[in-house]
Amino acid sequence: MVKIQVSDASLFALQVDGYAFFMADDTPPSEAVARFPSLPALFKERAFTGKQGSSVVVPVCVDDKLIHLIFVGLGTKNDVEYYRRAVGRLIRIAEGHKLKKIACELVDAGRYATDDVYLAQQFSVAAHIADYHFDTFKKEKVSTIQREMTLVTSQARKKQVQKGVEIGALVAQAVNKTRHLVDMPPSQMTPTILAEHAKQVAKEAGVKITVFTEAQVISMGMGGLAAVAAGSEQDAQFIAMEYNCGNSAAPTIALVGKGITFDSGGLSIKPANSMETMKEDMAGAAAVICAIGALAQLKAPVNIVALAPTTENLPSGTATKPGDIITFYNGKTAEVRNTDAEGRLILADALSYALATYKPQYIIDLATLTGACDYACGPFYAGMLSQHDPFAEKVMQAGIRAGDYVWRLPMHDDYAQAVTSSVADICNIGKSNYKAGTITAAFFLKEFVDEKTPWVHVDIASVAFDMPDRSYFESGATGAGVRLLIELVMNGAL
Ligand code: BES
Ligand code: ZN
Ligand code: ZN
Repeated sequence: MVKIQVSDASLFALQVDGYAFFMADDTPPSEAVARFPSLPALFKERAFTGKQGSSVVVPVCVDDKLIHLIFVGLGTKNDVEYYRRAVGRLIRIAEGHKLKKIACELVDAGRYATDDVYLAQQFSVAAHIADYHFDTFKKEKVSTIQREMTLVTSQARKKQVQKGVEIGALVAQAVNKTRHLVDMPPSQMTPTILAEHAKQVAKEAGVKITVFTEAQVISMGMGGLAAVAAGSEQDAQFIAMEYNCGNSAAPTIALVGKGITFDSGGLSIKPANSMETMKEDMAGAAAVICAIGALAQLKAPVNIVALAPTTENLPSGTATKPGDIITFYNGKTAEVRNTDAEGRLILADALSYALATYKPQYIIDLATLTGACDYACGPFYAGMLSQHDPFAEKVMQAGIRAGDYVWRLPMHDDYAQAVTSSVADICNIGKSNYKAGTITAAFFLKEFVDEKTPWVHVDIASVAFDMPDRSYFESGATGAGVRLLIELVMNGAL
C-alpha cells in the first residue's frame, strides 16, 4: 500500500522525488513558477492546458538533486471523479518514473463545493486503488517500492485531512481485498476458501460469522443454493456475518452478495469466450464480505448483516437439469429452464433467509447477475432496480459520492409476467418477448422480498471486471459496490 502522510510544511521544504500539481487550466501554480520561471513557456510549447486526462512531467535540478515536477490536468468540470482520475494518473506517473516520494497539496475543497474530509478521503481511496496490482502469480512485480505520498495542507485543516486520509485507506483496503478475491484463479477461490477469507475479515473487524456447509444448506431448505451446487464437487457454503452497532434502536441493513466462484453455465453451458472471466461471478459476495469488515472498523452507526451464498456452477452427472423444479427457503418453487441463470437461485434463498432471520429495515443485493446489464449500462454504471424510490435515491447518491455509479432501470409491475411458469410458481428465465434480461432477473428476485422492506438490487455484471479508461484501475476486478455500500451506510442517510 502507498503510505499517505499529511503535512503542514511548505511544499518545497519537503525532501521528495517529485512535486505534483493538479491544474484545472493552463495557469501554472504560482509557487512552482516562482522557482521555475520558464514553466509558462514550457506549457505553451507542450500545449498543456490542464485538460482532464493530460499531464506533463518536467525533470528539474534542485540543490544538485534531480527531481520531477508533475503537472496533472483536472479539467474544467467540478466533478470529484476527475480528481480521482487525476490522482490515479499521478500514481501511474510515479510508477513509470519509479518515484518513491511525492508531495502535493490537497486541491481546494471550495472548487468542488465540498469539505476537506471528503476530498482527502477521495484522494486516499484513488491513490490506494491505483496502487493495487494483481501480480501474485507474476515473477516480475509491477512495483516493489513502498511509495510515500505527502499531502500538504494548512495547519488549520490538517486534522480533517488526516481523518479523510485514514477513512480512505480503510475503504480502499476493502476495495482492494475484494479485487484480490475476485482476481484469484477460480480453483484457488472455491466456496470454502472464500469462506475462510470471510472468517479472517470477521476476525480482524470483530464481526460475528456463521458459515453453513452444503449439508446444512440442504437441511435448512435452501433448495436454490443446493440446486446450483449439485453439479460441483466443491462444498457450497452459506456465509452469514453480523455487525452489531450497540444501539438497539438503530436500523438493520442486510447486504446480500452473489458468490458463484465459477460460472460455467452448468448444463446450459456457456460458450468458451463467455466463460473466460467467470471467476468474477463471486464479486458481489466478495464486496459484501469486505464492506461489512470495513464498516465495522469504521464503527458504522447501524446494524449490518452480510449474507453470501457461494458455490460453483458446473455441469456433471449430478447437476441440476433444465426442466427441474426446485423449492426455496421461503417455500416457493421455480422451474429451472436454464442452469446459467443460477445467480437468482442462490440469491432467492439468501434474500428469504435475510428477511425471515433478521427482519431488516433495508435490503440491498449486489450480483453479477446478467450479461444483459452490460448492454443496458456499458462498463461505467451498474444497473439498479427497486420499487422503493427513497431508498433507490439514497443508493444512487451514495454511488455518485463514492464514484461507484449506478443507473436505475424501470421496475414496473408489468414485467412480473415475464417470469411466470406453467409448472411452478415462477420460472428462472424471462420470456423471450420481454427482452430486458436485467429487469426480468430483478422480478425473479422480487418474489423473495416483501412489499414493506425497502429493497434495492444492484446488477454489477457490467462493472465488476475490466473497466476500461480508468487511470486508477488496471484490467481485472474493480471491487464494484464496496465504496457504494460504505458510503451508503456511513453518510447518515439510513
Ligand atoms: N454470471 C452470469 C452473468 C454475467 C455475464 C456476469 C457477464 C458477468 C459478466 C449469469 O449467471 C448468467 O449467465 N446470466 C445469463 C442469464 C440468462 C441465461 C437468462 C445471461 O446473462 O446470459
Ligand atoms: Zn450463469
Ligand atoms: Zn452467474
